[in-house]
Amino acid sequence: MHSLYARVNNVSATMSSCLMALLAAIALSTFLFTADPKGDLAITNVKVTAGRDRRYRNKSQDYALVNFNVSADLTPLFNWNTKQLFLYLEAEYENAKGGKNDVVIWDRIVRRKEDAFINVVGKNKYAFKDITNTFKKVPAAHYALKYNVMPYVGALTYGEAGRTLESLEFPAAE
Ligand SMILES: *[C@@H]1O[C@H](CO)[C@@H](O)[C@H](O)[C@H]1NC(C)=O
Ligand SMILES: *[C@@H]1O[C@H](CO)[C@@H](O)[C@H](O)[C@H]1NC(C)=O
Repeated sequence: MHSLYARVNNVSATMSSCLMALLAAIALSTFLFTADPKGDLAITNVKVTAGRDRRYRNKSQDYALVNFNVSADLTPLFNWNTKQLFLYLEAEYENAKGGKNDVVIWDRIVRRKEDAFINVVGKNKYAFKDITNTFKKVPAAHYALKYNVMPYVGALTYGEAGRTLESLEFPAAE
């Protein structure tokens, strides 16, 4: 430790400016790889409709309809090693039995940096139902905008670009 300290102290001016440049480059690349962009996620309406099960027509099945407004600039996630992004909106709640449920209700694949400015006012793309067939006993849910970054080389990384501050109740079925 002492000799390292002494050596660092004795480093020439040229060497230390090289070192500074190197550290700056490393810091910059670390910054690039840990980009953590945040956006806005608003759930504008949640509605539940009483319907029928698709397979067993005699069984009732509630479907939740979720309207949302998402805006996010995900361009910082695009670097030389980004193949594509998988962006998704997830509803998170615990069911009556205490099990955790993460339900993907909307998603999008973003292949180009130019398409990474996200502005979507929409509704769930996938049928949103609970395993108990009803939302009567389902507690309020949180919603989160998440992404996976698929690289050309290396491991998939996960991130979150937005989350509702408060949980939203499921209203009675109409
Ligand atoms: C629905 O119909 C199926 C057969 O068509 C029957 O086996 C099942 O018990 C019925 N369920 C209800 C809730 O009536
Ligand atoms: C969606 O959210 C953005 C940013 O928060 C806002 O500017 C825009 O007016 C909203 N659009 C709708 C239709 O609510």
